[in-house]
Amino acid sequence: MNRRYRKTIIAGNWKMNNTLTQTKAFAEEIKPIMPRGKWCNVVLCVPATNIQAAVRLFKDCHIAIGAETCHYEEKGAYTGEITAAMIKDAGAKYVIIGHSERRQYYNETDFTVNKKVHAAIEAGLIPIVCVGESLEQRELGVTMELIAYQVKCALAGVAPEKVRHIVIAYEPLWAIGTGKTATAEQAGEVCQAIRTVIRKQYGAHVARSVTIQYGGSMNAKNAAELLAQPDVDGGLIGGASLKPEDFVQIIHAANQE
Ligand code: PGA
Repeated sequence: MNRRYRKTIIAGNWKMNNTLTQTKAFAEEIKPIMPRGKWCNVVLCVPATNIQAAVRLFKDCHIAIGAETCHYEEKGAYTGEITAAMIKDAGAKYVIIGHSERRQYYNETDFTVNKKVHAAIEAGLIPIVCVGESLEQRELGVTMELIAYQVKCALAGVAPEKVRHIVIAYEPLWAIGTGKTATAEQAGEVCQAIRTVIRKQYGAHVARSVTIQYGGSMNAKNAAELLAQPDVDGGLIGGASLKPEDFVQIIHAANQE
């Protein structure tokens, strides 16, 4: 983390978990144990049906709300989809874009990720853009090339002053939901490489302001070590964000000196 230049952001990704009733119960549980935000910003990305209620429920404890995806068009015949403007209107501040599960199961590509990034910014949302390599790609030794390609595609055509506020989440596919975390060195190395890509494209001023998270089995035990890496500015947390106590432990780790 480097709090001098950029925000530390701990974001939960609930995926397809928690009904409205369960969301209320989670809010009751986390409120009394939530650390009063010193440095780190806290976000929960929740299923679309919970956004509006979550905005209200988590307001007191300073947890901002995000969506888990959005469509790139402003409106139209896309049954089942929701627009970035709808998400913004429901009170959310963030939206996850290009999560590997969306890329794997819903044909999300680097091209649609780019269109969604533009749509999110246009609507006034902060995109949390996910990039990451598969185990095969890591073993082939193409991780850095692939990540650079994904980052460049996602940000293509975005103005530098907008890039400054985008969040990038490095999520190696082999670490998501597997309990197998990247080592702090691996996470730090790729997050640093992401910042270098941004520096080359947009300059040092922009690159040092971008929050780059690590995601993939981050938990209460390994968070501090991962966050100690200078280019790891937070986490995108799946499983451990479903348990208030574990999530709070990660927030504590991000608030350490
Ligand atoms: P995980 O999920 O923490 O359960 O590995 C992370 C993510 O998919 O964002």
